[in-house]
Amino acid sequence: MANERRVLSVASECVPLIKTGGLADVVGALPAALAAVGWEMRVLLPAYRSLRAHLTDMAEVWSDQDLFGGQGTVYFGVLHGLEVYLLDAPHLYDRPGGPYAGPDGDWADNAMRFAALSWVGAAIARDGIQGWKPEVLHAHDWQAGFAPAYLTYSGSGGACSVLTIHNIAFQGWAPASMIENLRLPSEQFYPGALEYYGGISSLKAGLVTADRITTVSPNYAAELMRVEFGMGLQGVIAARAEVVSGILNGVDEAVWSPQEEPISYSVQSMKGKAANREALCEELGLSAPHGPLAILVSRLTDQKGIDLLAGVIPEFVASGGALAVLGSGDPSLEAALRGLVAAYPGKVSVTIGYDEALSHRFFAGGDAVLVPSRFEPCGLTQMYGLRYGTVPVVSAVGGLADTVIHASPAAMAAGVATGIVFHPVDAIALGQALRALTQLYSNPKEWAKVQKNAMRQDVGWAGSALAYAQLYEGLVK
Ligand code: ADP
Ligand code: GLC
Repeated sequence: MANERRVLSVASECVPLIKTGGLADVVGALPAALAAVGWEMRVLLPAYRSLRAHLTDMAEVWSDQDLFGGQGTVYFGVLHGLEVYLLDAPHLYDRPGGPYAGPDGDWADNAMRFAALSWVGAAIARDGIQGWKPEVLHAHDWQAGFAPAYLTYSGSGGACSVLTIHNIAFQGWAPASMIENLRLPSEQFYPGALEYYGGISSLKAGLVTADRITTVSPNYAAELMRVEFGMGLQGVIAARAEVVSGILNGVDEAVWSPQEEPISYSVQSMKGKAANREALCEELGLSAPHGPLAILVSRLTDQKGIDLLAGVIPEFVASGGALAVLGSGDPSLEAALRGLVAAYPGKVSVTIGYDEALSHRFFAGGDAVLVPSRFEPCGLTQMYGLRYGTVPVVSAVGGLADTVIHASPAAMAAGVATGIVFHPVDAIALGQALRALTQLYSNPKEWAKVQKNAMRQDVGWAGSALAYAQLYEGLVK
């Protein structure tokens, strides 16, 4: 299909160039998914130190000597099949460490660093760049939150804006005294516009100015308007309810496919799954459990409910289960997990670190994937679990509730169950969920049914890409 329509995605992460979480997966997957429905999506990213090597293969297309305190230059090129603009601004991005933090924690000038990214995104959308002018600017999370605000306050050139919330926990806060340095109009500093608890939040700025607001599941879109999930922004979002919608993330089915794993298997022939399990147990030093092998692949943060494991794993391993964790993050959670390994050698394995290839072996070899999140805008690992027949055990929040059907007696009888869903998010309910898992696993026929239902779910991008295309089309009409 000819690409007649143009959208600029403004983000801080994009697979395979730079990733700290699911945001990167989504930003990296959307361009191909949207191309299939007639939209050309280019991605604007900061040229972090780790990305600067790419600049030599790219063309300089824009520059500004005074981009928030230094030279900013935009380069364009095709990297890993993606059409990418890299914003090179060494005073902001040429630093050691990750996108948001260096060796000593978060960069103190993050508000400025991502205001610059948003400023350039808005400039490209407003004026076009070398003949390429997008009709829509699609901003992701707080890092791009100022982009719709700049379009609103400094001229849009006819471009429309969409802001997607991937995680409301990060809001991009800056003191009120920075308003002019952030190139925002000080007369807009009032509660109905830029003011946020006495300061400025780039996410709020985006929420009040974007033409459309989306988040990554329908359920999270509804949750965000409630005090338990909105994290202070529930009123702002509820006030714009008529432009808020939820569009589920997909997974890249070419990358996440049991048929593509070294020991392959499929819904028609599940033999390979047992071989993957055996290989994974051996790799991790686990004695093959007679109960389910539960895996967990995650950032280790409060959001993910990792702290609940200590209370439930003793009973789970006593009843024959085993646990394998791959993750990194909060040192106290890492220590608690190491404590479980020491207490249950051969039954619990913890790999601290980030390892994409190993995560594939986890999904191929695990029987179940645990996602006990306190909140989860969408969540990707439960969807990998569905693809791999690695039965998801999830809390009933956000996108988890939208993507997994609980194996209740009625759902089993109807043949639609795809996993285990528990609520509320506490150790008692998680403990019950693990008991239900162990019981289901002990009935091979029923277990196989749930695995197959899971594997037959459509978790690809096609439907969601169409939903984004319709959203954009509704805007530019
Ligand atoms: P979030 O974005 O909140 O971290 P998601 O479930 O949306 O949660 O996305 C997390 C992504 O990061 C998934 O692709 C998951 O497989 C991956 N991931 C998280 N931790 C690790 C790890 N330690 N090693 C490999 N992949 C990981
Ligand atoms: C966030 C959320 C996660 C979501 C991801 C991609 O990091 O925590 O639930 O899947 O963004 O949208």
